[in-house]
Amino acid sequence: MTGVAALVSKVVGNYSGDKDMLIQVLLDLQSGLGWLPQEALAEVSQQLRVPVSRVYQVASYYKAFSFAPKGRHTVTVCLGTACQVRGAPRLLARTQDMLKLAPGETSPDMRFSLSTVNCLGCCALGPVMVVDGKYHSNPSTPELQKIVENTR
Ligand code: FES
Repeated sequence: MTGVAALVSKVVGNYSGDKDMLIQVLLDLQSGLGWLPQEALAEVSQQLRVPVSRVYQVASYYKAFSFAPKGRHTVTVCLGTACQVRGAPRLLARTQDMLKLAPGETSPDMRFSLSTVNCLGCCALGPVMVVDGKYHSNPSTPELQKIVENTR
């Protein structure tokens, strides 16, 4: 049994093989592996006895799931309306320049993944970015540089 299959087996076992726990199983695997490789989805399908098409359907629907490996650090820039009005496109452009990444990409050294979101629920702070769960309100370019440099 491969490492992925063993992990799937353990996670599925934690839920007694209950197919109604599909989302929770996928969340636990996403958390354990950092992404959902094809092998894991096939194993989930087999072990929970759920059609593989259903597993993909659920995994594709939720933004929490990723079909590609993620970087060690996540950088998310809000592009919601309030942040847009307050300069989010410029913040995103500066972030892209600094990380040399487009939204949805991960750096070759697996250090950063960049993504965008439609609202983070703190519009008054906009434009907002989140780095590893920490919110930053309209960081200047030097502040942005510091945030990136301090994220090892
Ligand atoms: S629009 Fe950016 S936090 Fe709401």
